[in-house]
Amino acid sequence: VCISPSNSLQVIGGSVTVVQGGTAILPCHVTDTNDDLTQITWQRKTREKPHHDNFITIQPRNGLQFVNGHDDRFKYVGIFNDKNGTLQLSNVTLMDEGSYTCIFTLFPGGNQKTEIPLNLLVPPFTHIKDNLPTLGTEEVLFATCTAAGSRPPPEVRWLTDALADKVRTTTNSTQYDNDTTTTVSSLFGVPTREINGHKVQCVISGDSLAKEETLPFTIQVYCEYQLLIEFIILISEDSFECVTEANPNANFTWKEGAKLQLLSLTAYLNGLYECEAANSYGIKHGQLYVHVASGKITCSAAWALFGLLLSLNVIGATWFFYKSGCFQKCLEQ
Ligand SMILES: *[C@@H]1O[C@H](CO)[C@@H](O)[C@H](O)[C@H]1NC(C)=O
Ligand SMILES: *[C@@H]1O[C@H](CO)[C@@H](O)[C@H](O)[C@H]1NC(C)=O
Repeated sequence: VCISPSNSLQVIGGSVTVVQGGTAILPCHVTDTNDDLTQITWQRKTREKPHHDNFITIQPRNGLQFVNGHDDRFKYVGIFNDKNGTLQLSNVTLMDEGSYTCIFTLFPGGNQKTEIPLNLLVPPFTHIKDNLPTLGTEEVLFATCTAAGSRPPPEVRWLTDALADKVRTTTNSTQYDNDTTTTVSSLFGVPTREINGHKVQCVISGDSLAKEETLPFTIQVYCEYQLLIEFIILISEDSFECVTEANPNANFTWKEGAKLQLLSLTAYLNGLYECEAANSYGIKHGQLYVHVASGKITCSAAWALFGLLLSLNVIGATWFFYKSGCFQKCLEQ
């Protein structure tokens, strides 16, 4: 047996970092040897498979073969004759993170190997939640800015500019078993008239994000009763519709209207009609007094909350009236 000393032989690998869902190239090749390469073997030790196992072999005749189950995400992108065993792994998940070892079986030199660590970056899910503060004199939570499930942990901070001495922020982090972190930054202040409408920003940065993320937020101070429901009553020739608008719009938007159709315009239908609408902040009633006289409807609407009474005469065309502006009153008080 003739063993040629191959002192200069090197197995070249590298350390790989990839964003979750991306494609990782696991580089591996051997240099400075004239030995014959008979097989390349890949082992792994990952979150999903915590024990070293052979999972891929590559031979000149058979190409890439999976040892314990197929995984389409792996592709052999090296060239056997160049003693290059490089693998490509697509759609990388956190479970793939770990250490990959490539082993070159050389003749007559024997096995040569190197280890390639694969590290994952997981970008966070980010959002701002408005805590819907109502006008008051005590400090309350305005909003929270969340960066969920990030790896490594991101930095979350509020840019409050001119409000810096009027607001306060705190930041909390929770780390999970899979080494992702959820970071929540809270914005506090006194919900005054002056602070209403001010714009601030939440800035999220860190290695897991390709670039800094900025979420704009407008501090809105609500009136207690504005969190109830506004009514729009839509009246047409022979029907009226109770349409509700809940505030704040962004979170509760338009709700279904409830339509009541009058089948014939007779005095028999005269009376007080009421519709009720509810959201998580409360219940509100809208009332409409209908009086039919010689084929025309006369309606009066009464607002349960304000005792406001409006009289309407309806002749044919579709039109509506709309109660608004209570917020302005509240802030002007
Ligand atoms: C990778 O993910 C994409 C999008 O989800 C999918 O269409 C594709 O089939 C996946 N590729 C593999 C090899 O699993
Ligand atoms: C990590 O763990 C948390 C909590 O169990 C889970 O919500 C999150 O989806 C996990 N993240 C990944 C990338 O698996």
